[in-house]
Amino acid sequence: MTKIILCGCQGHMGKTITELAKEKDGLEIVAGVDLKNDLTASYPIYSEIADVREQADVIIDFSHPSLLESILSYATEQSIPAIIATTGNGEAEIEKIHAAAEKIPMFFTYNMSLGINLLTGLAAKAKEVLGDGFDIEIIEKHHNKKIDAPSGTALMLADAVNDGSFEYVYDRHSKREARGKKEIGISSVRGGSIVGEHSVIFAGTDEVVELKHTAYSKKVFAAGALSAAAWLINRPAGLYDMKDMM
Ligand SMILES: NC(=O)c1ccc[n+]([C@@H]2O[C@H](COP(=O)([O-])OP(=O)(O)OC[C@H]3O[C@@H](n4cnc5c(N)ncnc54)[C@H](O)[C@@H]3O)[C@@H](O)[C@H]2O)c1
Repeated sequence: MTKIILCGCQGHMGKTITELAKEKDGLEIVAGVDLKNDLTASYPIYSEIADVREQADVIIDFSHPSLLESILSYATEQSIPAIIATTGNGEAEIEKIHAAAEKIPMFFTYNMSLGINLLTGLAAKAKEVLGDGFDIEIIEKHHNKKIDAPSGTALMLADAVNDGSFEYVYDRHSKREARGKKEIGISSVRGGSIVGEHSVIFAGTDEVVELKHTAYSKKVFAAGALSAAAWLINRPAGLYDMKDMM
């Protein structure tokens, strides 16, 4: 039985994972971490991960970047592998994830869906084939509750097509000039209950190639996280992502 501590267990993703875990054999959520508690969970919920007393094999985090430091301390002290799926981390936080991966198995991805990870590979291939003659623009759409922008996935897609020579442009309103050749424009749309939509547009002269992924339910991310949990527990220390699991 794989025993899980679920951080952000009362959030949208936490609740989706809790429901999906009930349908899976061999997985059990033994404790949750959240500031909220609506008393519907079948496991204890703590406001701080440091207070968790249950033995666990893996931590899954879909919460908020402010929790990262305490999760990494707990995971490294207790030698428990951790999956960090929370988005909106800054460079300093990402360095901390890398440092923890020297001690324990860490899984870090901005998108847990198989389809998005395929899209990332397809976008990199398109860039390779189309070369510099095509302008690259990324559009992401999410629900009106999302607090970070652009989405971590949009940045992941931009990184996949960027050989290091491109600048990311998030706002064209503040400058009145034509787009440069070495720009990747990243635009965010927020509204309603959109689960997640990402398009990578390669705009050339007289032709456009557009690669698009749409997530219709948060279940795709929950399923990816639970698969990653089972996959991660027997790995050596290191930093892993969906490409390794695929
Ligand atoms: N990597 C992926 O595939 C993927 C997919 C979906 C969402 N996400 C990310 O996961 C995160 C959670 O998404 P969500 O839609 O469930 O958000 P949400 O706001 O519904 O849930 C977040 C939960 O974390 C809790 N929380 C926040 N700060 C806390 C703190 N300091 N201590 C304890 N609990 C705290 C909140 O109470 C809430 O219940 C976001 O960063 C989102 O972007 C990642």
